Amino acid sequence: MTYQSLKNKKIVISAGASGIGWAITKVCIARGAKVFLCDINKKLINKIKKKLKYKNKIFAYECDASNENEVIDFFLKILKKTKKIDALINNIGIAGPTGTLEKLDSEEWERTIKVNVISHFYFTKQAIPIIKKNRGGSIINLSSGAGIMGFPLRSPYAASKWAIVGLTKTLAMELGKQKIRVNAICPGTIKGNRMKRVVRDKAKFLKVSQKLIEKEFVSMASMNSWIYEDDIGKMCSFLISNDSERISGQIIGVDGNATRLD
Ligand SMILES: NC(=O)c1ccc[n+]([C@@H]2O[C@H](COP(=O)([O-])OP(=O)(O)OC[C@H]3O[C@@H](n4cnc5c(N)ncnc54)[C@H](O)[C@@H]3O)[C@@H](O)[C@H]2O)c1
Repeated sequence: MTYQSLKNKKIVISAGASGIGWAITKVCIARGAKVFLCDINKKLINKIKKKLKYKNKIFAYECDASNENEVIDFFLKILKKTKKIDALINNIGIAGPTGTLEKLDSEEWERTIKVNVISHFYFTKQAIPIIKKNRGGSIINLSSGAGIMGFPLRSPYAASKWAIVGLTKTLAMELGKQKIRVNAICPGTIKGNRMKRVVRDKAKFLKVSQKLIEKEFVSMASMNSWIYEDDIGKMCSFLISNDSERISGQIIGVDGNATRLD
């Protein structure tokens, strides 16, 4: 497969030390980009920092994405290394609690909205002035299949991911004239640690086997397939590259054509 190189592209990504964010990071550096990532997990950040093969390719910092001061500090550290940012990937997002709405805890509800929506605001607010100086760039927000469909037992997560769709459409309109493109990716059921936890919690709540829940999740895509973290990395690479220079305001499913989430 041929793809456009990301040589000289500087990319910022939130919550990038594992899962989808780490897969995106690896795809982007393999294609020539430099990545500035943050994560709340200090152990993972230190592990990345120690790897010689990532030297001058990945710059990793500890930061709680839901703490505005820490996000400001993260950008100050980035600005010491580079004055240019080509892309921001708002990857941060937690699964939130599982259960029917009346049983959910208010603090967990609020926390899900804070981490999944307000963090995107913190990062985007810092990144826009820098990307503007660059006369163009790409902002990619991680929404979800739960941002375009209902998702029973996961109301705060669904509410947060629908909010990301609204934010994406609005920002694309606000920033279009500056040639900053804003798109959202809606991953389907990703094979990885997050889904392991989601499957476990749903099976516990419904008192059925994890195997059954897993099978149901996979069958929600008409391609009857898991989605892989790399699939999201490749879509991000495309949305950063000049191959997508007139694509903005789009909500893009990378989900094997998921048709339901229940
Ligand atoms: N995994 C899926 O099946 C799936 C499906 C659709 C959408 N998504 C979305 O994709 C994005 C990435 O998902 P994932 O499954 O890779 O996530 P994940 O749960 O595997 O977590 C990825 C990283 O987030 C970090 N993190 C958690 N809280 C943080 C905070 N407050 N500040 C900074 N870092 C923090 C963790 O330390 C971890 O390294 C999220 O927005 C998620 O909602 C995931």
